[in-house]
Amino acid sequence: MQNKYWQRSLLVVVALGLVSECPAQSLRQDADRDGILIGTAVRPSQLSEPAYASTLAREFNMVEAEDAMKWWVLRKDRSRYNFGPGDELVRFAEDNNMKVRGHCLVWGRDNPEWLTQGHFTSRQLSRLLREHITHLMKHYSGEVFAWDVLNEAFDENGNVRDSLWYNRPGIGLAGKGTAYIEQVFRWAHKAEPRALLFYNEAEGEEMNRKSDAIYAMVKDFTRRSIPIDGVGLQMHVSSMNPDIPALAANIARLTALGVQVHITELDVSLPLKSGSAMPDDLAQQAEVYRRVVRACLNNPGCTAIQTWGFTDKYSWIGSHSRGARGQALPFDRTYEPKAAYRALLEELSAGRSVTH
Ligand code: XIL
Repeated sequence: MQNKYWQRSLLVVVALGLVSECPAQSLRQDADRDGILIGTAVRPSQLSEPAYASTLAREFNMVEAEDAMKWWVLRKDRSRYNFGPGDELVRFAEDNNMKVRGHCLVWGRDNPEWLTQGHFTSRQLSRLLREHITHLMKHYSGEVFAWDVLNEAFDENGNVRDSLWYNRPGIGLAGKGTAYIEQVFRWAHKAEPRALLFYNEAEGEEMNRKSDAIYAMVKDFTRRSIPIDGVGLQMHVSSMNPDIPALAANIARLTALGVQVHITELDVSLPLKSGSAMPDDLAQQAEVYRRVVRACLNNPGCTAIQTWGFTDKYSWIGSHSRGARGQALPFDRTYEPKAAYRALLEELSAGRSVTH
């Protein structure tokens, strides 16, 4: 009897030892354990590359279309919606048990020429936009769990940006500040009441005039029960010294309003010399990834971390910086994990409970 007890205890101890010794296999295993979403942006045409698809499915539990759900891809022609690439991504996500974030319903950029050069009246634009939001959200109803409803509406001074949808000529609410944003959130909620609705922004991660304006808008919306569920902080980092305490403070003030925060487009671009980054920079890059992820994990209202692509083979940074910067992502061009990947893995495996 006693022997059996000891045998069983020994087995349990050995088994526990194995579990704790066993390194985590992937980012998503750790994220799943803590109920965190770890996602990445995808160009559906790349899903046919086996190394791309297998890395994606192994490491991430969420995907977002890098471009496939934007106006210029979906609405190349006025008369026809091109849902093919977006549908392919949604199928991949379903097959691999991943969530899908939608990006983006309304943006002043990446719109087709027939729309920007179409000389539409505000009335016509308003009708076109409402139809677009409704059609797109209903098409992906129950499949896309969260949408970036509006992307990049503020400038660096915290003013509402000039745009097709705001005042050029706008949907009829020009000069009325965030009223057009409120309108599109209302349309989005009506079209798909189950989807989480996010406002997504660049360079409003730390404490500055832009993030103050976002905060003021979200505070106003939540007070007046305008349907908004979260703020997406893009987090395209090009400095090795992002102000992490300011990021944490911004996440804290937003989540205190009762909305979620998602880190939506994380990448850390490095200067390139003859096409390569310096080894020291790669080490520092890992620390930036680590600290950003830690700032999110330390706040229970920060519920998703998403990178803007995952392999240096494919990243928007190259063309965006005309080749001056790159190597911004956690995997190299041959899908080998970089130091940045190991930093991500360590933080996700430590989970939410650690404070440093
Ligand atoms: C970028 C895509 O990565 C590119 O493929 C495309 O050519 C231009 O847009 N902020 C956003 C994203 O919200 O939609 C942008 O994506 C990057 C900046």
